[in-house]
Amino acid sequence: MNLIGHGVPEISLAMAEQAKQLEFVHTSQFTTPVAEQYAQELIEFAGENFRGGSVYFTCGGSESVETALKLARQYQVEIGQSKRHQVLSRTQSYHGSTLGALAVSGNKRRREIYLSMVREFAHVGVPYCYRCQYDCTDSCRNCGQQYAAELENALASAQGQAAGFILEPVSGATLGAVVPPPGYLQTIAEVCRHHGVLLMADEVMTGMGRTGRNFAMDHWGVAPDILIAAKGLSSGYAPLGAVIASKKVVDGIRSGAFLHGLTYNAHPVSLAAGRAVLQHLQGRRLVQAADSGGGQTVAAKLESSLSSLVQLKTVGDVRGIGLLRGVELVSDKPSKHPFDPQLNFASRVTAAALERGLLVYPIQGCVDGVAGDHLLIAPPAVITAEQIDWAVAQLAEAIDEAAARVP
Ligand SMILES: Cc1ncc(COP(=O)(O)O)c(C=O)c1O
Repeated sequence: MNLIGHGVPEISLAMAEQAKQLEFVHTSQFTTPVAEQYAQELIEFAGENFRGGSVYFTCGGSESVETALKLARQYQVEIGQSKRHQVLSRTQSYHGSTLGALAVSGNKRRREIYLSMVREFAHVGVPYCYRCQYDCTDSCRNCGQQYAAELENALASAQGQAAGFILEPVSGATLGAVVPPPGYLQTIAEVCRHHGVLLMADEVMTGMGRTGRNFAMDHWGVAPDILIAAKGLSSGYAPLGAVIASKKVVDGIRSGAFLHGLTYNAHPVSLAAGRAVLQHLQGRRLVQAADSGGGQTVAAKLESSLSSLVQLKTVGDVRGIGLLRGVELVSDKPSKHPFDPQLNFASRVTAAALERGLLVYPIQGCVDGVAGDHLLIAPPAVITAEQIDWAVAQLAEAIDEAAARVP
């Protein structure tokens, strides 16, 4: 997802300059100045808890998740915990398209036909307060702890065989920008530590400023052992992903050699793009622009404008943080009853929005993996207040038009 906007000349110039000097070398034998410099800059960007850590560069989100799964396993083997091989995850989640990433994902539609091909470990529930299965009357403090207790129980049942737990701190596509309840992530981190399990934050969607912090985990002051990034890392200018490992993980790999490799790891031209994107987003203070709690920012404007959509007959919930927002569409608001999945209501709204010149991301399955329609909205941080007003007006019309056409 693009945070910096299209056609920024510094990015293509940096890529061309790198290609002129050195287009590629294989990481099995070489490193490059761009890889060394960019890794240091990313570690700085990831914050205090990653000092002394390392970065492994890939070509995207799924590759980064695969890399992180293997890193967690090798870490456990090298610290003498060779029984630990399971990676637990959450039910309504998406971690990528490759088989390992699909195994830990919970997105029913995207996994269904491949399930017989993957090795599955336990999935625990995701706090989703609009449709919570627990009591949410205390501003969701209780329900966050109930969901954390699900992890505690699952790890106890894993009997010392769990290597890691992976989660999206703010749900991306599958649930549509669902923000965790207070205290949940802090307890999750404690539970993981107590069980000797690595906490892996999949920030492919939420990282690199999208939610108004460098990484979304920063909102809750929680330090994962492994951070996974892609999308915003290069803002789409080149295929790029990264796994940022904390010092604890790096020190654990005593052999010093991670048993993993992809030919196009740390591709210099992609890294030059990523480095230039990082400089650009820092120079333009785009993380600050994406902070919806930061005063008069475009993210605050997006939050207040989108909140007007709850007045519409078919909008059940408007949620999210920073520049990652979700709009859940329902056929009956008081009962939160979803549309018949056959209607594909989210896609109908998307088509009506497209006719007006507005692009949104439609997804189905937020209720139970099949039913439930929502839209994901994630503009670049260079969007203006006027563009937000225009976009929200178009979206309101598109939702009403699609609702009027439901048979
Ligand atoms: C949270 C999350 N993880 C992983 C991925 C997979 O990334 P990619 O499509 O770059 O392989 C995605 C893609 O949408 C994602 O949202």
